[in-house]
Amino acid sequence: MTDPNPNEGGGAETGSDPQAAIDARGERRREALDDRITELSAGDEQEGIPFVGAGPGDPGLLTVTGRRLLEGADLVVHAGSLVNSEVLDAYCADADLVNSIGKDLEELVPLMCDAYEGGEAVVRLHSGDPAVYGAALEQMDALEHEGVPAYFVPGVTSAFAASATLRTQLTLNEVANHVAFTRPRGKTLSEEADHVSDFVGMGDVTTCIYLGTHAVRETMERLLEDGHDPEIPVAVVYHASWPDEDVLVGTIGTIADRVEEAGYRASALVIVGEAVTGAGYERSYLYGDWANRGSDADGRAGSD
Ligand SMILES: C[S@@+](CC[C@H](N)C(=O)[O-])C[C@H]1O[C@@H](n2cnc3c(N)ncnc32)[C@H](O)[C@@H]1O
Repeated sequence: MTDPNPNEGGGAETGSDPQAAIDARGERRREALDDRITELSAGDEQEGIPFVGAGPGDPGLLTVTGRRLLEGADLVVHAGSLVNSEVLDAYCADADLVNSIGKDLEELVPLMCDAYEGGEAVVRLHSGDPAVYGAALEQMDALEHEGVPAYFVPGVTSAFAASATLRTQLTLNEVANHVAFTRPRGKTLSEEADHVSDFVGMGDVTTCIYLGTHAVRETMERLLEDGHDPEIPVAVVYHASWPDEDVLVGTIGTIADRVEEAGYRASALVIVGEAVTGAGYERSYLYGDWANRGSDADGRAGSD
């Protein structure tokens, strides 16, 4: 099933209430597949406002497409202190800059719509990857409801920068077979929806906790109450890839003291699991038995 008019505005039917726009777009999504899903790929040049992932902070960790779009932008609406100002300085010298922090959808959507409809090249810049704790889709739905197309340009999420800083992998043979991107309970997440302890309890999961710097002590205390081994490694990477990046390494039992000593309350990624140390893994099948099994008829070594 395809959507014949994926970009058709519906503002007239529902007014400009963003929640009504989100609901209407959701309904359309359930009914019909957006044509663009099969016609376009991530990385393609597209019509509309790109939601660009700025990456974790270092300007060199922005994608080539993201850089091109920023350099051609008239207006960049960015995620304030979550985006390293070096990225803005490096690539947005010619653009008007608007900080989105403290602005609601009712303000942001008309701001972007008006600029776009007035012929400006508008870029919405999110930190890391916009699809990870980015609240991008609600803005995109509200824009599309007003007849302004929008699309994603992915970025390097902070968990990937943190694992690079730690010189380890998030998945590691025999140590970590899975990765969870999660956040702890708080204003947004109820106690029942907090699964940090479940992921840690699975044993072979690397648990990457976003939006949890302020709650490291409570999170670690809950893990201890739930009976998890206090020796499980934990890393807290503050401002991964920024000039003031800092790495704290400890365990479930010790990390809270280190975070409090350092005074971090935000902007860090907390990684729980044996993969933090990069120790204890075994060589993989990929470069062992499987590599030696010969090529198939097409000359390929096999699938992924
Ligand atoms: C609103 S979320 C945005 C996440 C972002 N979309 C991403 O993909 O990284 C903000 C949280 O991401 C994490 N974060 C973002 N940038 C970071 C960085 N450079 N270093 C460490 N953590 C970061 C922190 O946990 C922060 O509280």
